[in-house]
Amino acid sequence: MGGKRIIFTGGSGKVGSHVVRKLLTYDYEILNLDMARAADDLGIHTIKSDVTDSGQVFSCLNTYMRMGEPFPAEPPRIPDAVIHFAGIPTPMIYSDGETFKNNVLGMHNIIEAACKMGIKKIIIASSVTVYGVAFGQGNIEYPSFPITEDLDVNPTDPYALSKICGERIARSFAARFGVDIYCLRIGRVFEPDEYNGEMFRGYVNEPEKWFQHGWSYTDARDLGQMCHRAIEVSGLGYQAFNATNDTITNHHQSVDFLKTLYPHIPHTRRMHENEAPITNVKIKSMLGFHEEHPWRAYFTS
Ligand SMILES: NC(=O)c1ccc[n+]([C@@H]2O[C@H](COP(=O)([O-])OP(=O)(O)OC[C@H]3O[C@@H](n4cnc5c(N)ncnc54)[C@H](O)[C@@H]3O)[C@@H](O)[C@H]2O)c1
Repeated sequence: MGGKRIIFTGGSGKVGSHVVRKLLTYDYEILNLDMARAADDLGIHTIKSDVTDSGQVFSCLNTYMRMGEPFPAEPPRIPDAVIHFAGIPTPMIYSDGETFKNNVLGMHNIIEAACKMGIKKIIIASSVTVYGVAFGQGNIEYPSFPITEDLDVNPTDPYALSKICGERIARSFAARFGVDIYCLRIGRVFEPDEYNGEMFRGYVNEPEKWFQHGWSYTDARDLGQMCHRAIEVSGLGYQAFNATNDTITNHHQSVDFLKTLYPHIPHTRRMHENEAPITNVKIKSMLGFHEEHPWRAYFTS
């Protein structure tokens, strides 16, 4: 193990386990912090810990990367980067206040501890729900197309609100400590075996019903590559990136599709033929992400 040392939170969850698997292919050494154990075949050590407890977070950000019997003679040291995915992934799993508390406090504790311990790279799981549509109160519309990171956002549900608060915490600490904190606005994540499930069939066959997800998605493995690029590209300070895949989730041309469904919503630039409406142009140009898993390679129905 000669690669960079990464502390990953939420690696026992649905998305985190795929991202960790992909990151391991780049030869990083990874320690998982999660309330739950990771699957045994992931092959990394998990410290069971609660990121809403600041003391646990400070302790776990400066520890050994794996179990030792014995431990090495030299004391533990801080990792090269922290990737924070632990959190409650939708509203209505817990009460609104619990969702907000868990996600915002967890985000604050991780960023605070990492900055104060001298860790220079922090990568955060945010969400495209910050655009306010997915769990919005009623059928909220996007203000313009393509949907870019510089839009003003005001989400109305407790989950997206927790994510936008997390982004503000990230921006504040990046300014205060002069470190890189990149927030990934992740789309609805698809695992490799989900492309022929009900949801993706709905995307393709009844696309007008799927405005909530912005006709955009995120492949779990490609998200791992995005995290890898975020580790490797430094010096950008605070950034929010749409962490989505390249193309729209149906067989229409993007501009025709959007202008037919929403003739009154302005377009701020000419979109590429099949460009995802929640566009990933920024993460491609600034971090060098290159899609490896387009949905068309897997969708068969
Ligand atoms: N699933 C998606 O489509 C999607 C889309 C956009 C963003 N995200 C974000 O990606 C991340 C992972 O989502 P997921 O779908 O894998 O959810 P998940 O529930 O499968 O995994 C989340 C993990 O976080 C852990 N966790 C939660 N609170 C914790 C705490 N206080 N301390 C320690 N561990 C804690 C859980 O034990 C779990 O293993 C979340 O931050 C979520 O908001 C997910």
